[in-house]
Amino acid sequence: MFITFEGGEGTGKSTQALILAETLKKHNINVVLTREPGGSPGAEIIRNLLVTGSVDRWSTMSEVLLMYAARADHWQNTIKPALDQGDWVLCDRFADSTVAYQGYGRGVDLEFLQVLYQHVIGNTEPNFTFIFDLDVQEGLKRATARMEGDIVVEGRFEAMDIEFHQRIKDGFLKIAKEHPTRCVTLQADDHPRVIHRQILKFLQEKGALDWNSLPA
Ligand code: TMP
Repeated sequence: MFITFEGGEGTGKSTQALILAETLKKHNINVVLTREPGGSPGAEIIRNLLVTGSVDRWSTMSEVLLMYAARADHWQNTIKPALDQGDWVLCDRFADSTVAYQGYGRGVDLEFLQVLYQHVIGNTEPNFTFIFDLDVQEGLKRATARMEGDIVVEGRFEAMDIEFHQRIKDGFLKIAKEHPTRCVTLQADDHPRVIHRQILKFLQEKGALDWNSLPA
């Protein structure tokens, strides 16, 4: 099972990926919890290039290719081997983030992004994608508060203007609409426990989880 968590800044998707991983482990499911950009030693090095430094550090095309360089390494070394051995992979961001951020956010041709996907990943898609939707101002406020006190500030994207973040939010909603079988949109301002139960319920209804009652 390959599940991705997507959304704008400060939407709580990383927390939900972590809580779901813990619940699944309690039910003896082998889980690999990972993230993008990053998730393998090589991709983590590329992540550092992408998320630190000034907003205009990379051209849009360099940014796309770095995202896909990281994704290729992550796919080859972390995701694919885990899926091949039957583990569940929970991935905090994946290719929908490139469509939302670099496609809808920065105007990169969506067909070009699709071609990159085909060459790097092939025909595999996430089984399910949870898209976390939140007011842009609120999300940025949460993300900025989280970074306070960090030694390495991963704030390159958070520092981009509000219109960019609004295009990303709208982009994710568009992706959800275009892929109704794979994607489900969650209201990220609900309580984390409520969101976790919604996720479990969705996975049960889809037949991905076969235990009879939801865990407490
Ligand atoms: P994170 O803060 O969720 O770990 O993600 C790091 C940043 O990278 C986040 O601001 C979104 C951005 N990003 C893209 O712009 N394109 C992508 O394809 C991915 C995976 C992330």
